[in-house]
Amino acid sequence: MVQRQFPRPAELFELMKFKKPELDAKKRRLQGALTIADLRDIAKRRTPKAAFDYTDGAAEGELSLARARQAFEDVEFSPRILRPAAEVDTSSTILGGPSAYPFAIAPTGFTRLMQTEGEVAGAGAAGAAGIPFTLSTLGTTSIEGVKAANPDGRNWFQLYVMRQREISYGLVERAAAAGFDTLQFTVDTPVAGARLRDKRNGFSIPPQLTAGTIVNAIPRPWWWFDFLTTPKLEFASLQSTGGTVGELLDAAMDPTISFDDLDVIRGMWPGKIVIKGVQNVDDAKALAAAGVDGIILSNHGGRQLDRAPIPFHLLPDVVREVGADVEIGVDTGIMNGADIVASVALGAKFTMIGRAYLYGLMAGGRAGVDRTIEILTGELVRTMKLLGASSLAELEPAHVTQLQRLVPRAAG
Ligand SMILES: Cc1cc2nc3c(=O)[nH]c(=O)nc-3n(C[C@H](O)[C@H](O)[C@H](O)COP(=O)(O)O)c2cc1C
Repeated sequence: MVQRQFPRPAELFELMKFKKPELDAKKRRLQGALTIADLRDIAKRRTPKAAFDYTDGAAEGELSLARARQAFEDVEFSPRILRPAAEVDTSSTILGGPSAYPFAIAPTGFTRLMQTEGEVAGAGAAGAAGIPFTLSTLGTTSIEGVKAANPDGRNWFQLYVMRQREISYGLVERAAAAGFDTLQFTVDTPVAGARLRDKRNGFSIPPQLTAGTIVNAIPRPWWWFDFLTTPKLEFASLQSTGGTVGELLDAAMDPTISFDDLDVIRGMWPGKIVIKGVQNVDDAKALAAAGVDGIILSNHGGRQLDRAPIPFHLLPDVVREVGADVEIGVDTGIMNGADIVASVALGAKFTMIGRAYLYGLMAGGRAGVDRTIEILTGELVRTMKLLGASSLAELEPAHVTQLQRLVPRAAG
């Protein structure tokens, strides 16, 4: 028999522990986001459709991106037991410099479109967290502006080699003069991928006001307030001729770039040089033989060739073939700190985040990027502890099985 009693008000009172409400709406919004997907939801609510779709979207049927994310979801972790991991060391040396975590912020074009703080928010947040920040050739903050936002941290510059070579070379010289330590030469963009959402939205650069954009703006007043009350949104290093981002890329990029261009750029750049957009073992071998410092396995977040190889699937073969000669980075599809852990376990020296950073930016400017990094590092540390790994060096291939919903092509 259960013994019953009259409820005692004092006991009830003890149970009522209401937290002090957070009055700062932005803080409340960001603290409520527990995952990068949560930040994406907030970003979608707050950003005009064309800008959100430009960021969130990929090329053609968006299969490259969906598959890359699925490959991370299909990781099976194998934890080791009774290995004390009360504290974990997440730091390492990446491309000759320190990084507090094995990830960097990826280069993204037109970043102030997503939220007016743009690259300044990304560089500042990266500097505060002790990770590198990469500025795109198509950035909306100057090289010097990024240096000012992240004066003591590591800045990397991403290079597109353009038809007008002198523009590209001028940027390389400026980045070197500003103390950027690594150059990322992107090679997966001979022409622009077909970003169908941009076409459907009639999205152009600079953004045009249409009846549709005006209706869409009504529930998103803060974005428009920022847009209209801050310096004009334009490329910091490039003249826009109008049109979609795809049309602009096609006009600016040189589809004839080759290994000869790599030699020229290496001659101009005093720091580390990394090739971004490598998608097979043979190219990785050729680049290692050419003496680059690193390669980034990437399909550009699925924004270029659709149905491209899944970068995470390429890791084991590429690490086996060239891992001793070059540092290997990987990106595309990272939405969780555990994705970063899995990549490091399979031999990546570092990873990069594109949209995860931009969702945070759209959700709350600098504070939103801080929240992105907080979420990812929390997941990363927790996953390492649950695996029983107290440092990045202790992560090993045995920790990860790549389940085969999508079967990678056999090596050889
Ligand atoms: C909105 C946006 C703009 C991008 N712009 C560039 C760019 O200018 N140069 C470049 O090399 N990569 C660019 N990328 C690709 C990223 O550097 C990175 O490879 C990709 O975002 C990684 O995938 P994730 O978004 O799933 O993390 C862009 C990606 C996005 C989402």
